[in-house]
Amino acid sequence: MKISFASERPAGAYALALPVWSEDMVTDRLAGLDPGARAVAARAAEAQRFEREAASIAETFVAEGEGARRLLLVGLGDRRQDEGVLDKVGGALTGRLLTSGETRLVIDLTGLGLDGEAAARIGLGAAARSWRFDRYRTKLSKKQKPTLEEVVIVGGGDTGSAWDERAALLDGLSFTRELVTEPANILYPESFVERCRERLEPLGVEFEVLDEEQMRSLGMGALLGVAQGSVRPPRLLAMRWNGAASPHSKPVVLIGKGITFDTGGISIKPALGMEAMKWDMGGAGAVAGAMAALAGRKAKANIVAVCALAENMPDGNAQRPGDVVTSMSGQTIEVINTDAEGRLVLCDAMTWAQRQYKPEVIVDLATLTGAMIISLGHEYAGIFSNDDGLAGQLVAAGAASGDKLWRMPLGDPYDKLIDSPIADMKNVGPREAGSITAAVFLQRFVETGVKWAHLDIAGMAWADKASNLYDKGATGYGVALLDRFIAANYES
Ligand code: BES
Ligand code: MN
Ligand code: ZN
Repeated sequence: MKISFASERPAGAYALALPVWSEDMVTDRLAGLDPGARAVAARAAEAQRFEREAASIAETFVAEGEGARRLLLVGLGDRRQDEGVLDKVGGALTGRLLTSGETRLVIDLTGLGLDGEAAARIGLGAAARSWRFDRYRTKLSKKQKPTLEEVVIVGGGDTGSAWDERAALLDGLSFTRELVTEPANILYPESFVERCRERLEPLGVEFEVLDEEQMRSLGMGALLGVAQGSVRPPRLLAMRWNGAASPHSKPVVLIGKGITFDTGGISIKPALGMEAMKWDMGGAGAVAGAMAALAGRKAKANIVAVCALAENMPDGNAQRPGDVVTSMSGQTIEVINTDAEGRLVLCDAMTWAQRQYKPEVIVDLATLTGAMIISLGHEYAGIFSNDDGLAGQLVAAGAASGDKLWRMPLGDPYDKLIDSPIADMKNVGPREAGSITAAVFLQRFVETGVKWAHLDIAGMAWADKASNLYDKGATGYGVALLDRFIAANYES
């Protein structure tokens, strides 16, 4: 989607969107139209019970000269709203018009008192909602194909650098969605690495990739145990962006769970819905997309993104329930359930990243537990952290970006639940508190003094229904959150 900004409405054909604050009169916003058109639009708003609620739309056609124009009245809600509403307004409009036959949309902000920052936010939502992945749809009918190509946002003043930053964020968001959407026969550990190289090396991101042999010599028995049932070899991918004044200042480390397909392994999952497990690399996808956003806008911070990439398959060589593996940290793990594989790949990635970069802060993102979806549904991801300051920063970045987070507990009583009679720990606890026992498992791999946060995004990476900011499918959750977290805490 092409997004541009202008001070006046362009010439030619387009659909026109007029946003309205809930405190304002619809009729005042129609002042620029012919009297006949004004009456039609006012009646349409009334007939569609348009009450100017944020992102609500009333649609009509009005006569204009010899022709007719599609007109959309869109609600802005309350003037004292939170920032999160404007992107939804832009997204509601492009969601409505994407396959409508219209090719151009003009959103006219004139007289609303919105600045360039607000205009950029509307543009972000408009573009985010219009993202689609049609690569494998060779038989779309003409009517199913998107028509909308361009959005012009008028009267929002100077966007300055606000739009360039949002454009980088969009690029990262699109990249994450693409990775999450690709099926597992196309995207597996090696091809995931290649996709990242193609997209991120041109932005100046440095790559380091560990193969199976290197991981074996480092002692990553937990990650390798997960991968051993698959013919697709695992990879540990580290991507580094050095944007801080000193390239030597310690990086913030982001870690993503990258299970390119999770069958459950020998503890195999039921068939119904198993295809969803192609997106069990949503954490790795989010940190890769965040790197694209950060490098794309040349963020003034040092950041490393580490992706723990493996496929979890049942096979003659797959690990068995009861197997004991030794992690890179030296701690041993009894693998009670091979379907609790995310924590097994993450723990070795965490140890490697801490030894390699000596970070003060690590943040991991993972589609880790179904229990997280039971707790919070699809509204918030869960955050677990050993540091209140870090948790606060992430929760705030979540609220500001729209990628919401809700804090969950940790603690000794939970930790005891994963003690094993034969090894240092087992990889699952009892049924209850499943997201928390997964988190305390990871916490056992956090080294002294390191601030750590774990984001369980199982309910957020994929959506079964469309919203104002995404269609059904990959949401791109985490990209805007991480971009905001870095901007707010590491770039001043
Ligand atoms: N990838 C799943 C978690 C998941 C489930 C993510 C549904 C998104 C949607 C994870 O590897 C898993 O299988 N977890 C198990 C853990 C259990 C065996 C302790 C689960 O949640 O059932
Ligand atoms: Mn699993
Ligand atoms: Zn999984």
